[in-house]
Amino acid sequence: MGTIRQVGFGSRRLLRFGWVLACLVAVWAEAAPRPANNAIASAHPLATQAGLDVIAAGGNAFDAAVAVSAMLSVVEPASSGVGGGGFYLLHVAATGRDVMLDGRETAPEGATRGMYVGADGRVNDQASKDGPLAAGIPGEPAAWAWLATRYGRLPLARSMAPAIRTAKMGFPLYARLQNAIRVKRERLLASAEARAVFLIKGDVPPVGFTIIQPALAKTLELIARSDAREFYQGAFATRMADSVRRDGGLWSVDDLARYRIIEREPLRIGYHGATLVTAPPPSSGGVVMGDALGILSGYDLSAMTHVDQTHLFIEALRHAYRDRAEYLGDPDFVRIPVEQLLSPAYAAGQRTSIRLDRAMPSAALRAVDTGPESPSTTHFSILDRDGNRVAATQSVNLFFGATYVIPGTGFLLNDTMDDFAVAAGVPNAFGLVGAEANAIAPGKRPLSSMTPTFVEQDNALLITGSPGGSTIITNVLAGVLQWLDGRSAQEIVSAPRVHHQYLPDNVTFESGALTALEQAELERRGHHLIESHSAWGNTQVVTWNFVTGRIEAASDPRGFGAGLVY
Ligand code: DON
Repeated sequence: MGTIRQVGFGSRRLLRFGWVLACLVAVWAEAAPRPANNAIASAHPLATQAGLDVIAAGGNAFDAAVAVSAMLSVVEPASSGVGGGGFYLLHVAATGRDVMLDGRETAPEGATRGMYVGADGRVNDQASKDGPLAAGIPGEPAAWAWLATRYGRLPLARSMAPAIRTAKMGFPLYARLQNAIRVKRERLLASAEARAVFLIKGDVPPVGFTIIQPALAKTLELIARSDAREFYQGAFATRMADSVRRDGGLWSVDDLARYRIIEREPLRIGYHGATLVTAPPPSSGGVVMGDALGILSGYDLSAMTHVDQTHLFIEALRHAYRDRAEYLGDPDFVRIPVEQLLSPAYAAGQRTSIRLDRAMPSAALRAVDTGPESPSTTHFSILDRDGNRVAATQSVNLFFGATYVIPGTGFLLNDTMDDFAVAAGVPNAFGLVGAEANAIAPGKRPLSSMTPTFVEQDNALLITGSPGGSTIITNVLAGVLQWLDGRSAQEIVSAPRVHHQYLPDNVTFESGALTALEQAELERRGHHLIESHSAWGNTQVVTWNFVTGRIEAASDPRGFGAGLVY
């Protein structure tokens, strides 16, 4: 009885509270500025266009996110897709709520901590990257259904229609995808399905060649008509699990049936009057950016030379990536001291070990090779005219993921299991090391660097993110700092980049990022510099200035994408 009375009383009060809250939200929504346009930046013009078409058909930013994401799974299959996962950072204008959909791949129940370590104690480097043993349970189809049914205005099938059409009719091969095919040709040859789609008689097709994916179109139709249920349960799921197990992987039908999208509270980080709304664990992006910004907030960067700014940027990254290696993992499995890592006192402590005249060797930090850069993974940024926003980064990990196609399905499985620390201190494909916090466990999600981010100022907004493996966080952070410095969307995506990730203890920089004099000065301070002649990242930015009303959408000139304001 007592409980019932309490509930009754509580619910009346709750009702009153809810009513007041609704009024406040309505007033706030009324007061919040509204964008004059819709804007989308993504890694492929067809994806950007699909998003805008869906908005024109009555959809909102969340329907557009489905359309863009599904189209990218067709036209950028080396980067993300049905067999992968991602993080979808949302801002819902009507309520002012920010949320991150965690659609990250999940380790199957059969996964074990030492699954990539042989009896001789040696790590089997290939098994976490190639073939079905490298694949976690995909989250992307579940994320599309979640977006459509809980946040969108249109049925999933409507938002996926452009992608399905393009999978059936084909699209012209472009140089960036052609390069990915060239890099992975040997592996693609080994799969009858991948060979038939991506190669001509075993050779790399020319730019302009039409890539047609009828089996993928069927899988997309199955997802679209069943809100992804038939992907995770029933005959299709059984077929996937059987195929994966037959070829050496661990998936079971239960793993697929158990897969869930997790709604997570984004991290909010204050810096110089701006607020970053960004990815929480199992992304490392938000914590690493917050850690580095905490350190940087103790300096007056604006009064410094570019070389001093770069030096401090590197030193801040060194500390923040070291913390990544020690503390970060799936928050449902390990306790992460997020508050401590982001506290001003902790940042002040870290600053005491930073000198302006000398680089600190990473070996001097309490111990816990950047791998080859692969332009897989993809990001898109969306703003709609209601003020809804999406920043989403999604991936199959390395080029074409595990380069394994389940017969008849037309999509590539991810190799995201490689994002776990497969053994303590053993670097992953991006040279990142990790420890206990990111050890493999059944049902656990591997630590990610994907960092979809909003930055809010009183008068302006930035929506950003990038692929780039371990360099994602650096790219996003550099873009945030440039934006706060007054740079435009186009300048942010174009700016040459500098990266450091604790180990290996190198500063990698794109040609043009540092003058010869600046390089000499940084070397004099003890930094080991490596000039990278290949570009990295594929940043997609939308900005909105509330005062001028100006909205910009810019796509990284290193890629093939398009930013459109409509
Ligand atoms: O989640 C991560 O951190 C990686 N799987 C991202 C991979 C990536 O960005 C590869 N592309 N350049």
